[in-house]
Amino acid sequence: MFTSEMRESIKKVEQTRAERMKTEPERMTAEEKDALLKAFHPDYRADGFAEIKVGPNKGQKAPKELTELLHSNSILLSENIDLSKIDYDCDVLVIGGGGAGASAAIEADEAGAKVVMVTKLRIGDANTMMAEGGIQAADKENDSPVQHYLDAFGGGHFAARPELLKRLVMEAPDAIKWLNELGVMFDKDEDGRMVTTHGGGTSRKRMHACKDYSGAEIMRNLRDEVLNRNIPVVEFTSAVELIKDDKGQVAGAVLLNMETGDYLVAKAKTVVIATGGAGRLHYQNFPTSNHYGATADGLVLGYRLGAPLLYQDTIQYHPTGVAYPPQLFGALVTEKVRSLGAMLVNKDGEAYAHPLETRDVSASAIIRECAEGKGVDTPQGKGVWLDTPMIEILGGEGTIEKRIPAMLRMYLNYGIDMRKEPILVYPTLHYQNGGLEIGGDGFTKAISNLLVAGEAVGGIHGRNRLMGNSLLDIIVFGRNAGKAAAAKSRTVEIGTMNLDHISAYADELKKAGIDTGKTSPMLLPKYARHER
Ligand code: FUM
Repeated sequence: MFTSEMRESIKKVEQTRAERMKTEPERMTAEEKDALLKAFHPDYRADGFAEIKVGPNKGQKAPKELTELLHSNSILLSENIDLSKIDYDCDVLVIGGGGAGASAAIEADEAGAKVVMVTKLRIGDANTMMAEGGIQAADKENDSPVQHYLDAFGGGHFAARPELLKRLVMEAPDAIKWLNELGVMFDKDEDGRMVTTHGGGTSRKRMHACKDYSGAEIMRNLRDEVLNRNIPVVEFTSAVELIKDDKGQVAGAVLLNMETGDYLVAKAKTVVIATGGAGRLHYQNFPTSNHYGATADGLVLGYRLGAPLLYQDTIQYHPTGVAYPPQLFGALVTEKVRSLGAMLVNKDGEAYAHPLETRDVSASAIIRECAEGKGVDTPQGKGVWLDTPMIEILGGEGTIEKRIPAMLRMYLNYGIDMRKEPILVYPTLHYQNGGLEIGGDGFTKAISNLLVAGEAVGGIHGRNRLMGNSLLDIIVFGRNAGKAAAAKSRTVEIGTMNLDHISAYADELKKAGIDTGKTSPMLLPKYARHER
């Protein structure tokens, strides 16, 4: 399966293994990290970004691909939508069928609100489902939410919004309890205690996992709970524009039935944007670990209505995407592989960085090794080794099968036995650190009754997220958004609905001399086949 050049390099990895295992590389100093990030992290590549010329973040930069969507007109600009014909009428409209949307829908329903969930694919087709390594919560004796806060605040370059991060860490133990009671089968020891591990940048072992398919197990339970409660889920239906009323509040959304092409009107007292990430925009031509529908739709909808973005210029590249075999290019190799002991090693068999630096630092170090000729050639570029046989040496035979069985199976499908041979990795586009700005209550500050939860939020993690804090934020902020939206909906009177912001935005674009010739949101990746 490996090429002869790869085989030669594997020999060096094997030759250096025993010596490497005696001494782990030192952690980098803050100055070393800063220099590395500036030199090699894609966020510092000026040619990957463009200035936003219209809207609340005018004058700031965003990835070129996102800027183009923000600079495009609404799909509805030349459509005539009859807003008096209501197809769905509800208290809480949840846009998005992933973990944040499902958590919001469950809690809003629990609070007695009339909820409708719309999702452009199926419930559970989301980054939540793809999450592998686990979910953080400080619920052991040697740990505390304060410790969790400090780890995440430092890892995010001290840029996280304190009120958001505080909520994240304080409500984490309850999030785990809630999921456990819903039926999520977390890894536990023989005494029934949760098994926890480290992630990059954590000072305590607080990663709770369901082997290496934590997200799938969590989403399975959330989806079942939504369906058991008979919450209406409108699948294969995209929100293509938010609706406002004459009081300036959000009042629902125009939906597109992806199968028939028909437009539908959802009237809602509150709206929760839970549309997830942007990996399928393939910033700077990176492959992605994201699901098929991750095209930043919620950011575009909220922005066009006037809600500001925060940290839209910072993206997470997961250090270990699959670099080889080509069929798996860009797929996630969970950080848990490094938590269990695998070292990152260049083509000469050198461990060039501590395996559990924060993600932005680890990714930059891999990019540096490859840029400086210490990477291994692959059909799609280059990669470095993740020395997986170390896991079996350190943890005992059978550890890989027990703790990361999905990884093992994924590679065995292509003839690579990671228990015996290292695997090749390179950073993959994994997460948008930025998104729509919210307050600690989950509401956008600019648009009344509009809430955001999950990956579409900016500011929870600052400028870099630690492993396991995303599965956590979808639960904490999803649940809170559902509760807050349900409570708010009791006091809301919707006025006359309109889509005036669409033409106002078009005028702004015209004034700025911008014509991309495209419409947004994107809905499906540019390589989608459109068959109707
Ligand atoms: O590496 C991972 O398993 C990914 C986890 C995360 O993004 O939180």
